[in-house]
Amino acid sequence: MIRLRKLARAASLFTTPLAPEDFLALFNPVFSTRQLRGVVTRVVPETADSATIFFRPGRGWQAHKAGQWARIGVELDGVFHWRSYSLSAPAGQDPAITVSDVGAVSGALVRNTKPGDVLFLAPPQGDFVLPEHPRPLLMLTAGAGITPVMSMIRTLVPHRPDSDVELIHSARTPADSIFREELAELADQFPNLKVTDWYTSERGRFDFSSSKELDALCPDWRSRAAYACGPEGFLDDAESLWSAEAAAAARNGGKSPEGPFAADPVNLIIERFTTSLAGGDAHDGGLVTFEASDREVEADGATPLLDVGEDAGLLMPSGCRMGICHSCLIPLRAGHVRDLRTGEVHGEPGQLIQTCVSAAAGPVNLDI
Ligand code: FES
Repeated sequence: MIRLRKLARAASLFTTPLAPEDFLALFNPVFSTRQLRGVVTRVVPETADSATIFFRPGRGWQAHKAGQWARIGVELDGVFHWRSYSLSAPAGQDPAITVSDVGAVSGALVRNTKPGDVLFLAPPQGDFVLPEHPRPLLMLTAGAGITPVMSMIRTLVPHRPDSDVELIHSARTPADSIFREELAELADQFPNLKVTDWYTSERGRFDFSSSKELDALCPDWRSRAAYACGPEGFLDDAESLWSAEAAAAARNGGKSPEGPFAADPVNLIIERFTTSLAGGDAHDGGLVTFEASDREVEADGATPLLDVGEDAGLLMPSGCRMGICHSCLIPLRAGHVRDLRTGEVHGEPGQLIQTCVSAAAGPVNLDI
């Protein structure tokens, strides 16, 4: 590495105005001092509309923890897009993302990615990770929500015989169930993992309106640290059940009438892929000026400014697109915006605006 740096310094004398890393990248596509990159090593189909993409990251990548996610940048028809994906590989191994064919960017990744392709990357992040101290776990997942949990199971189950993991995974049919065969094999091989497949085409949606189904499948669920990942409605329902149990436990002096239950909300840890953006419904928008790009667009009061900018052909910074990662911040020059999660209107000149969850509330001038 030291030799490489010396070479780069010497090379810079001859390569101006191009930086030496531009030339090194010709020989090693993940070499860049400016942008973290990874080269695709393998693409494995999972179901008819999902695939796992393994990649070898270049320097600057920090090893991921099981359950974390990363932003992946891809170029589509000349426009650069960033999306966030959970990492499905176990901790300690080269990363992988498991992508479902939903939306233009994910669809292109599933259908077109091949070994040797270069992905743009941002470092792994997220708090949806295994507890620091071992304790019995309950994993509740639906659809693509299995992805971060698969990383946790692969990391924990084969290496910690003292771990105790129960997974209830909901999918529409067996054919739609990502990792179904691997999970069945792991459960056969390791007595510390129990897997329940819940197919909604046969049994309907998992019912969180009472504890009946959980009691039947996992009688000690109240004493487990629970993790949930899946679509919005699935997570809202799980959250409601845990809140109701916590409230009942609080009324009962910290104990659930059905057994031990710590009222601490950390008992259920949730990872959301989307967020509700209904706060702008029925409100007026306004004229959005993208000052540095010299572009003006009329926007309604419910469309995120990130979408407004992209629809106008601008290269907008973005990441999770749901108000978590703060990659989409743009300084406000003038005007007011509405937070689409809460409906709250705010705006001070110079304030950084989360464009993925903010819409115009009257004329807006953004510094991009
Ligand atoms: S893109 Fe992540 S907060 Fe906006």
